[in-house]
Amino acid sequence: MRVLVTGGLGFIGSHTVVELLEENNEVIIVDNLYNSKIEVLEKLERISGKSIKFYQYDLLDKEKLDSIFAENNIDSVIHFAGYKAVGESVREPLMYYTNNLISTLNLLEVMKKYDVRKIVFSSSATVYGEQETPKYVETMKRGETASPYGTTKAMIEKMLEDLYASDNSWNITILRYFNPVGAHQSGLIGEEPNGIPNNLMPYVMKVAAGKLEQLSIFGNDYPTPDGTGVRDYIHVVDLAKGHVKALQNSPDGLNVYNLGSGKGVSVLELVTTFEKVNELKVNYKIVDRRPGDLPEYYADPTKALKEIDWKTEKTLEDICKDTWNYQKNNI
Ligand code: UFG
Repeated sequence: MRVLVTGGLGFIGSHTVVELLEENNEVIIVDNLYNSKIEVLEKLERISGKSIKFYQYDLLDKEKLDSIFAENNIDSVIHFAGYKAVGESVREPLMYYTNNLISTLNLLEVMKKYDVRKIVFSSSATVYGEQETPKYVETMKRGETASPYGTTKAMIEKMLEDLYASDNSWNITILRYFNPVGAHQSGLIGEEPNGIPNNLMPYVMKVAAGKLEQLSIFGNDYPTPDGTGVRDYIHVVDLAKGHVKALQNSPDGLNVYNLGSGKGVSVLELVTTFEKVNELKVNYKIVDRRPGDLPEYYADPTKALKEIDWKTEKTLEDICKDTWNYQKNNI
């Protein structure tokens, strides 16, 4: 299959490109390098031993996007491109709505024009909102999202549903990710957040590498086994494989799948596992809760196993080992 991957040089996109090539798909990447680096392209070619067609275009530029479809006989699209920083989206909502929504609309319109009707969309567990209690199951309604970032994901899901309702020759798969972490075993690609990280794992990495002094653990008085927040951390390589399975195995129609392990892990458990497998210390202190954080959530991943034959294979130990391996190589 010839697959266009938008945002294919980003964290999840790049790992998915590796898995797509592994399964002998042809890959075309479009990425505006807003939140990624061109060096990743060469690393992807090194890992796969294959060459990859790349366009440094912005999806907001519909004419350029159109030219990609005109030049290539594309079969399907995996759509990762989008802004993803929760805090920034609260400060700059218009920037998030403009970028994430208009770029997706452009993509869907161009796909329709060229009669490409198979898309896998990168959504998030954040669309379940705060009303539901875990495990999150796909049959639950989307809830009230906690940030403009989350709202763009929920709005795009709705857009895709309306599109499918209008024309059921589309094949649409919505993947709701839980907490993506980890890095490729090669140590060549991994997560590269801009500036001081907001998310737990990248912050732990910086502290372990001596670039930041201390991790703040946001609250130890949640109603969870050790009082710290519980999340469903998923190795990015498992997540990437989920996209390939979705392309290969999604039934006709519009389908939604949780991509998570189904297992909740607390902040303290993650930190102590990281220390143990990598034989080092992470300096931390307990501080107040972070506004907007939920005590706990994790996936019910049974639908993905049943319908697309996917489940996580990597352990929390693998996650901690691979993330540190990448960080060490890139200090
Ligand atoms: N945490 C800390 N210290 C930190 C950072 C995080 O204790 O420095 C804690 C949080 O309080 C939370 C857990 O670690 O309990 C995970 O926090 P992250 O920021 O890593 O992840 P979130 O669950 O808050 O957010 C993630 C994604 C979002 C997505 C959201 C819901 O980063 O993109 O899940 O799916 F919207």
